Amino acid sequence: MTSSMMGLTTNHALFIENAQKSGELYITQPYELYSDENHEAWRRLYSRMMGSWEQYANPRFQQGISSLCLSPDRVPRLSEVNQFLSPLTGFQAKPVSGYVPAFLFFDCLRNREFPTTITIRPLDSLDYLPEPDIFHDIAGHVPMHTDLAFADALARFGDCAHTAADIVASITDEHEKVRRVVSIFKALARFFWFTVEFGLMRGPGSSLKAYGSGLLSSYGELAHCIESREVQRFPVQLEWIVNQYFEIDHYQPLLFVVDSFEHLFEMVGTLEKWMLDGKLDNVAPGEPQMSEQDVASFLHASEAR
Ligand SMILES: [Fe+2]
Repeated sequence: MTSSMMGLTTNHALFIENAQKSGELYITQPYELYSDENHEAWRRLYSRMMGSWEQYANPRFQQGISSLCLSPDRVPRLSEVNQFLSPLTGFQAKPVSGYVPAFLFFDCLRNREFPTTITIRPLDSLDYLPEPDIFHDIAGHVPMHTDLAFADALARFGDCAHTAADIVASITDEHEKVRRVVSIFKALARFFWFTVEFGLMRGPGSSLKAYGSGLLSSYGELAHCIESREVQRFPVQLEWIVNQYFEIDHYQPLLFVVDSFEHLFEMVGTLEKWMLDGKLDNVAPGEPQMSEQDVASFLHASEAR
């Protein structure tokens, strides 16, 4: 291996560029390519989060962190993470080379596989990154996958994409197919955003804690989401979140609170029922946008039915 291959830094990883060029989405984690700087980024990110997790993270997340036995000093090996994770809930972290088209992403969740980025942010931008990296995915998402109720909710959410593909398969008009896919996708993506990525949970006692991975992997936003008076926090309402647009490039001004992961699981069931009843066919416009690749992934799945 040549030294020019070294480093798995977000936006500077030759290995990833090559995988993308050759169309490989599902990859193996080339662990030996992580540079000292990559490990140092992990160490700094992890060490500054530990105190905040204790203070602001949902207790199930904290249990998850300890069950996974992540190293505070080195980028984790996904194979080792999976050895601790899969006996608990059947979930596995599945290394990917980049963006996973929407339907495939949902389908992975349904199979209890979590598409996981293997690159890590550069040392000079530890605070903010618009795209996921291994710290966000492994330290933010995967600890939640050790919880059975949460894992079941996530897998059920993945099922919803198949329900959507079935619905679309029954529509003959091409234009209407796309319109429906886009509306249903918006609803699903907003649900994911306001729960899995940015969710808050009531308790223990009268406290609020974070369980959303976007919060749990952001040093600044984790304290902000709980402490700041600028954040509006409301009990979650499905009819609200599926119609609520969001922006990804700043701290979230509006967050929603669930009672428990059993509550989250029930909501996924309602979401699917609403989809079948046509209640997601005309959600409010606005973010997120759906890429052509995302639309194509749903249409392709619906053709196969
Ligand atoms: Fe995420």
